[in-house]
Amino acid sequence: MIDSPVALITGGGSGIGAAVARQLLDAGHRVAVTGRGEQRLRDFATELGNPEGLLTIVGSTAEYDQVTAAVETTLKEFGRLDTVVANAGFATHDTVAEGDPAGWTEMVLTNVLGPAFLIRAAVDALKETRGRIVLVGSVAGFVPTPGNLYGATKWAITALAENTRRQVTEWGVGVTLIAPGRVETPFWDELGSLPPGHLLTADQIADSVVWAIRQPEGVDVNTVVIRPIGQPN
Ligand SMILES: NC(=O)c1ccc[n+]([C@@H]2O[C@H](COP(=O)([O-])OP(=O)(O)OC[C@H]3O[C@@H](n4cnc5c(N)ncnc54)[C@H](OP(=O)(O)O)[C@@H]3O)[C@@H](O)[C@H]2O)c1
Repeated sequence: MIDSPVALITGGGSGIGAAVARQLLDAGHRVAVTGRGEQRLRDFATELGNPEGLLTIVGSTAEYDQVTAAVETTLKEFGRLDTVVANAGFATHDTVAEGDPAGWTEMVLTNVLGPAFLIRAAVDALKETRGRIVLVGSVAGFVPTPGNLYGATKWAITALAENTRRQVTEWGVGVTLIAPGRVETPFWDELGSLPPGHLLTADQIADSVVWAIRQPEGVDVNTVVIRPIGQPN
């Protein structure tokens, strides 16, 4: 356990992040998960039986000092950092022409600046381990949808992944963009119902995240777009 790899996952208390955390713990990694809701993190840890290799850290990915604190706490507790997963994110589920701007600042800070803050805070530790950065983008970051500001935040993540890769690859650090289509998670709670059609499970996305993270040294999986069958765009 003492030398096992360490991952830090933002927004790891539910949905895709929680599925990645569970699968990595099962594979023998040590895992730190962050989130704003203390109770959500506590419930997640309880559900897993409070495993020794799990660390929960309350904090927002939209605040740089809280992101650096999460990285420092992980390093202090586990002694190394091999992977960061910039997963925290949400949608206001409205449109730029008709929606409520009050929700947009937090969404843009969380979805766009959050991953950039995480990369900045973690890169020195990742250089030491020749580790990996995983960004959770979206199909909405590849396909324009009418009025979708959330989608624009994910287009930014598509660009951030490649721009980051081009800088950090010479330091031996890998960058993977995982772009899911529709997945059944609390992401849709605000909407009051799930979108129509077949949805993926969080574990089906986590399978690809873990596959990318566990590639042999020297192999860098860059972009994975995963839709449920039947999702046309
Ligand atoms: N579900 C889908 O269909 C879908 C499709 C494509 C992409 N995605 C992306 O997948 C990622 C994970 O979403 P999900 O589907 O797993 O939904 P989710 O279950 O709602 O997960 C999002 C997590 O992020 C946390 N979070 C939100 N804002 C945060 C902040 N500022 N700082 C730290 N943590 C924060 C939330 O916890 P707290 O509220 O307690 O902080 C929550 O645990 C997101 O980036 C989302 O955009 C989802």
